[in-house]
Amino acid sequence: MKPMKPFTIQIKQKPWLGWLLFLASIVIVFILGLLASSIIERRSEAAFAFTPQVRYGDYEPRNEVWGKNFPMEYQSYKKTSDTLFRSKYNGSATIDMLEIDPRLVVLWAGYGFSKAYKQGRGHSYAITDVRNTLRTGAPMDGGKSPMPNTCWTCKSPDVPRLMEEMGPADFYSGTWEEKGHEIVNSIGCADCHDASTMELQITRPALKEAFERLGRDITTVSHQEMRSLVCAQCHVEYYFNKEIIEGVPYLTLPWDNGFSAEAMEEYYDEIEFSDWTHKLSKAPMLKAQHPGYEIYSTGVHAARGVSCADCHMPFMSEGGQKYTDHHVQSPLNNVANSCQVCHREETAQLIRDVYERQDRIIENRDQLEVLLVRSHVEAKLAWDLGANDDQMALILLDIRHAQWRWDYAAASHGGSFHSPLETSRVIATGIHTAQEGRIKLSRLLFELGHTGEVPYPDIATKAKAQVFIGMDAATLKAEKEAFLESVTPQWDAKAAEREAQYPVKSLFE
Ligand code: HEC
Ligand code: HEC
Ligand code: HEC
Ligand code: HEC
Repeated sequence: MKPMKPFTIQIKQKPWLGWLLFLASIVIVFILGLLASSIIERRSEAAFAFTPQVRYGDYEPRNEVWGKNFPMEYQSYKKTSDTLFRSKYNGSATIDMLEIDPRLVVLWAGYGFSKAYKQGRGHSYAITDVRNTLRTGAPMDGGKSPMPNTCWTCKSPDVPRLMEEMGPADFYSGTWEEKGHEIVNSIGCADCHDASTMELQITRPALKEAFERLGRDITTVSHQEMRSLVCAQCHVEYYFNKEIIEGVPYLTLPWDNGFSAEAMEEYYDEIEFSDWTHKLSKAPMLKAQHPGYEIYSTGVHAARGVSCADCHMPFMSEGGQKYTDHHVQSPLNNVANSCQVCHREETAQLIRDVYERQDRIIENRDQLEVLLVRSHVEAKLAWDLGANDDQMALILLDIRHAQWRWDYAAASHGGSFHSPLETSRVIATGIHTAQEGRIKLSRLLFELGHTGEVPYPDIATKAKAQVFIGMDAATLKAEKEAFLESVTPQWDAKAAEREAQYPVKSLFE
């Protein structure tokens, strides 16, 4: 066979061949270009697939109505009703924390939390759980709940709707049962999104007001910060301030001196605020709510700009569609999307990292709880032996501070992972403060004629602990059952009637 002539020689002999090649390559480049641009277009279509099905009002509270326009987000949101996932300490299963840790009953003696305290679960349970908890009582036949309307604030997208209608102060006024028929939809779309632009938005005034007092404007923060601040509307420390508007329990974040346990403690001490007086020790107590955002802010992830949504609402991809996972939950149920976008370690290793931090912190937290139980019991004995207010003042202050620090660490759900160093530090200062108080107590008890150890109470179970503090849980439960049978169905019926009037227009008729 004759060897083929080199290409350049062939072209020299037949010039049209060169032109043909030139034209062919232009056509190929053109087609490739078309293809590429169509791929890019498809991709952006995939990311922003959005065909509105309905038009609804700016304050539409019903998640299922928004869900017609945003099915991926809504379907994933609905998964927050799943209660099957349990990690070592957290997850979506309902756990009766008083059963697991009866010391809590004594720590909260005289306060609602000693009646019932369950571990938090998914966002779609917020309404059910606030109705079911013994803490809200059983207001029937004109009776009143022990809780104010302020308690609804972090539960529902009906809240921005009502606040728009009546303003925050009127919203907060009155007792909890008064707005039961108004607030029926669990945490959802309108809590975090503007209905017309879908931008993230802050709907809760307390957060905006706290920023203002710190001289910051919350409307100018970065998009990445918003991915945490939408959570900070609810996952924060707060209290009910009755001074801002006389008698109205106005939801306020105690951030004026800073985010740390000490800064907030100082804030509360300055205004002489207390949530309740302890039933045994008579100490003026503080109840930490859930300073989740504050503790997170002191951790390494926050320092590296990782937001709450990065771990709890990761990006997902399904059939070429990219969307944000609205199944807000323990990230340990989805390590691949929550952690491994940044970390190369195996799933088992990452979970071990989390448990290791939690185990070590909980070990010390339990020690602090034992010291606090002892402090309350010893203080009660001192009163019983005739101690006076002056003798008790500094002791009660130590108890207040030590328990506040314990609660700040314990109630910051996820804090042992979000910021293990800060959480450990706060618990260590709590242990120190509790022991200072107990040294003073043992001196006083000696003066009052008591020597030897004050026995640790038998609080091996929740039931025993509730008997120890003199609480009748059975009656509370029976009343609650009657309330749930007769009152809440009426609330739902009334709400359904009102909602049937809301403007929802199909765009395909
Ligand atoms: C707790 C706050 C929160 C709630 C409640 C919430 N979202 Fe989102 N949503 C987010 C965050 C955070 C993002 C990511 C936004 C970003 O980074 O731009 C997002 C993104 C979106 C997007 C943009 C596309 C995407 O998937 O990233 C849509 C659409 C959306 N949400 C719809 C909904 C709907 C519908 C509901 C109610 C069923 C809802 N959201 C409830 C926080 C929330
Ligand atoms: C409107 C108030 C509100 C907002 C906004 C909010 N949460 Fe929650 N969150 C709650 C309440 C209340 C619960 C407990 C619900 C229950 O147990 O009934 C909860 C529960 C949770 C849980 C526990 C879920 C489980 O399965 O155990 C996680 C995790 C969580 N929230 C993270 C977030 C993150 C992250 C954001 C922001 C993207 C956010 N939340 C925004 C009020 C809120
Ligand atoms: C958006 C990126 C990002 C995501 C998502 C993320 N991390 Fe990290 N993580 C970091 C960065 C950055 C650091 C700091 C390490 C550094 O700067 O070298 C870090 C540090 C850590 C550390 C060491 C810090 C410490 O507390 O001692 C652990 C453990 C860790 N991450 C676990 C996790 C787990 C578990 C998840 C999922 C629940 C997760 N991370 C999600 C970026 C991320
Ligand atoms: C780096 C990832 C990461 C970031 C950022 C992060 N979290 Fe978490 N969060 C976790 C992990 C891991 C846990 C522990 C889960 C477990 O023990 O099952 C957790 C636990 C929680 C819990 C308790 C969950 C449960 O099942 O009861 C809540 C509530 C929570 N985080 C809220 C937040 C909020 C609010 C923010 C922002 C202020 C935030 N988290 C930021 C990873 C993260």
